[in-house]
Amino acid sequence: METETMNIKIRLTEESRVNQLDPNNIVFGTLFTDHMFVADCVNGVWQTPEIVPYGDIAYNPAFATLHYGQSIFEGMKAFKNEENDVLIFRPLENFKRFNISAERMCMAQVPEEIFIGGLEELLKIDAAWVPKGEDNSLYLRPFMFATDVYLGVRPSLNYRFMIIMSPAGKYYATPPKVKVETEFIRAAPGGVGYAKCAGNYAASLYPAKLAAEQGYTQLLWTDAIEHKYFEESGTMNVMFVKDGKIITPAVSTTILKGITRDTLLKLAQSMGIEIEERRVSVAEIIEGISIGSVTEVFGAGTAVVVSPFAAIGFEGTDYVLPEITENSLSTKLKNALNDIRTGKVEDTFDWVWKV
Ligand code: COI
Repeated sequence: METETMNIKIRLTEESRVNQLDPNNIVFGTLFTDHMFVADCVNGVWQTPEIVPYGDIAYNPAFATLHYGQSIFEGMKAFKNEENDVLIFRPLENFKRFNISAERMCMAQVPEEIFIGGLEELLKIDAAWVPKGEDNSLYLRPFMFATDVYLGVRPSLNYRFMIIMSPAGKYYATPPKVKVETEFIRAAPGGVGYAKCAGNYAASLYPAKLAAEQGYTQLLWTDAIEHKYFEESGTMNVMFVKDGKIITPAVSTTILKGITRDTLLKLAQSMGIEIEERRVSVAEIIEGISIGSVTEVFGAGTAVVVSPFAAIGFEGTDYVLPEITENSLSTKLKNALNDIRTGKVEDTFDWVWKV
């Protein structure tokens, strides 16, 4: 069947695969919904987008993205409330950040109509894929890559923007043990650290592999100049609880401006918890864990939500953090966030969009 809705050409699958979704056994990023959204930008002009059955796409071996890495993405989540409405969380923030990444990578700007309009339409069609249950959501992955068939190095003139969706459960089965990285760097001032571009993730794989060989689940990046100050962790921002306050590295050109990060800081403030956004030194945190003033360290991100760390490895020593309880700040923040995102409590921040 082929129809046109809101200037989107829609071709639906003949057979849904939604029965493959087991809400009690979701492995992140492995199963994809029935449909995907595709919009091409040809010489600066966006063409009529399409929603088509999820599946392989054709690519040319000379696609610029394959050679020079013009590729960016976003991560978002959709939830269902008690009434089975589909809710998305702060989508305009992801839309804005996507175009900030696009600007830095010299790529086309995506219109709101395509990013948000496409997402809403796709979610309406694949609403049955939004899983219920604690820690469950539908992970939304808008992304864009360069499609010029050209081997010269220059910004591509053609792009493909797509949205795919994948049911998600808990990202980490157990609290991660994280290594403070003091040799390799994720980002340097003037670089692309604040952009959600594919290359940032590619560059992290080798140091993360070395850390995994030493028994660590993730890395805690330090600054490129002195390796003295924390930046962010593998796929998330990082927060420390010290003397009951939340301390987190201030965002800069080397740190991704996390939307979960911003959300948690606003929630913490609304709970009367003091926050400090500033430079956070490794020495301060290691000493704090040793004397008991640092009681929690956790990652904050769309995929991981709020993920408390079990231990931090620094220069060959593991600094073990106290166990997380129902009274831990990270638990309270995570519950407050989940209650808003799933419509359990009133959203006084105006963060939730009903599709
Ligand atoms: C997200 O939290 O959406 C991310 O970007 C993490 C992803 C790389 C797994």
